[in-house]
Amino acid sequence: MVDLIKGKTALVTGGSSRLGKVICNYLAREGVNVVIHYNSSREEALRVKEEITSLGVKSWVIKADLSKPNEVDELINESFKQAGEVNFLINNASVFPRVGLSDLSINGLNWIMQVNAWAPLMLTLRFANMVNEGKVINVLDSVVDGYNFERYAYYLSKVMLNAVTRSLALRLAPRIMVNAVAPGIILPAKDEDTGRVEAMINQVPLRRRGSPDDIAHAVLFLLENSYVTGQVIYVDGGEHLKPRVVY
Ligand SMILES: NC(=O)c1ccc[n+]([C@@H]2O[C@H](COP(=O)([O-])OP(=O)(O)OC[C@H]3O[C@@H](n4cnc5c(N)ncnc54)[C@H](OP(=O)(O)O)[C@@H]3O)[C@@H](O)[C@H]2O)c1
Repeated sequence: MVDLIKGKTALVTGGSSRLGKVICNYLAREGVNVVIHYNSSREEALRVKEEITSLGVKSWVIKADLSKPNEVDELINESFKQAGEVNFLINNASVFPRVGLSDLSINGLNWIMQVNAWAPLMLTLRFANMVNEGKVINVLDSVVDGYNFERYAYYLSKVMLNAVTRSLALRLAPRIMVNAVAPGIILPAKDEDTGRVEAMINQVPLRRRGSPDDIAHAVLFLLENSYVTGQVIYVDGGEHLKPRVVY
């Protein structure tokens, strides 16, 4: 059965740019009101708000540094206060630093875990306390099925978020459905060498990079579906079939 999502409200973390921005646009085109969360990109967030309100939906912009637990709580409280109700939570925000196995420190790991895994976990629990029913989508990375020793802290954070997805899908059922989308190579990171990205694309079964639209489509599918929970949709051109190892 297809759930009607028109008229509902979604909170999208990291909604000001790149994948988050495209997700916000897709939701708005389906008639979903959007709370756009940002941390440093205020101007960009306001531009997304302008774009999506021109599509006829309501939108709000809220700042929070997800590495700070009190701001995680404030984000969820403010979202409900401003929007009145929130039906969907899209945990998209993340940091992607080059913190490898050899330069790992507990402080570095803590910061990355805080933003990429702890904040989504806390947002989900707070969200679940405030609604009768709802849907949560976590944005993972198809590397959760492989290994990344070069961005080891990031890799660990997404592995944790994968476990959070499955365990909370079970724990919060039947009220809350928790699913994930795991992108492969979509947009290059700012610090990524383009030659290296091309070489990685050659290893992808579909031999090309995906687009932010592919990710947004998968998010919409999960929001519109009424009988899927604890699932990860790999939007990675088949990369998870022969998991990548990055040294
Ligand atoms: N791009 C890809 O090809 C790819 C591949 C695999 C997985 N993914 C996953 O897909 C998601 C989106 O990817 P992306 O490349 O669009 O992400 P991104 O541009 O690297 O970051 C997304 C957002 O995270 C927010 N953010 C960073 N630190 C934050 C903090 N301390 N507090 C609150 N927000 C913070 C940023 O908000 P501000 O700008 O407002 O600071 C940023 O807009 C991520 O979860 C990523 O891991 C992406």
